[in-house]
Amino acid sequence: MQEGARIRLGVNIDHVATLRNARGTFYPDPLRMVKILEKLKVDGITLHLREDRRHIIDKDVVSIIKETNLPVNLEMAATEEMQNIATNLIPSAVCLVPEKREERTTEGGLDVINEEEKLKTFLRPLAEKEIRISLFVSPELKQIEAASRVGATIVELNTGTFCDLLIEQKKERYLDEFKKLTKAANFGKKLGLEIHGGHGLTYDSVKYIASIPEMTELNIGHFLISESVFDGIEKTIYKMRQEIDKSQKT
Ligand code: PXP
Repeated sequence: MQEGARIRLGVNIDHVATLRNARGTFYPDPLRMVKILEKLKVDGITLHLREDRRHIIDKDVVSIIKETNLPVNLEMAATEEMQNIATNLIPSAVCLVPEKREERTTEGGLDVINEEEKLKTFLRPLAEKEIRISLFVSPELKQIEAASRVGATIVELNTGTFCDLLIEQKKERYLDEFKKLTKAANFGKKLGLEIHGGHGLTYDSVKYIASIPEMTELNIGHFLISESVFDGIEKTIYKMRQEIDKSQKT
């Protein structure tokens, strides 16, 4: 990203699919949301194809990658099945996340240090297809260093802990976590990595995260889809965009 460019907003639309799947029907259609988001000029679409297909399913990934000109960021676990899907469909980016069946949503970042050799091998075919590689990590300097060693060009910093502490109003702890995120972003950029952030972001927490100077992209889902139930997606995206722009330090 050029110096001074505005932070990109990627919208995670998993929960449009959650709503559809709750009734086992065909609506609301995630692709319809993608078409609306194109008009609202968001910067990318994020989808998490989980092993248990609880929200986004294979058909969604195929149709969305085919039908949109927006960059698609495919979140996935480091499994052979997902590697095959990604190398066949070629999204703009893949964001590797840890995945446990029993979790409600992604918990914590990847343990890159302990998976270093496995990840190097896993990522090679993706890099050969020129898919951008992002690793979802906690704001820990050693994990970020390892991400750079295994061939990632992007780290997405897990903002989930910060967002939870902010909601709980644990001031000392959220300020401490914010410091960690700031330091991690600075460190990652110095290693030549592009810095993204995501998980749990709301209008309130995004003010902090968008103020981190190295931040280039934020991926936000659950809050945006939830707010749009009350306010509509257009107003919600507009408001989130405003919060990001007001907070960004150029
Ligand atoms: N980034 C990553 C890596 C995620 O796993 C998720 C959740 O799927 C998000 C961003 C979006 O998080 P949220 O839905 O809480 O905004």
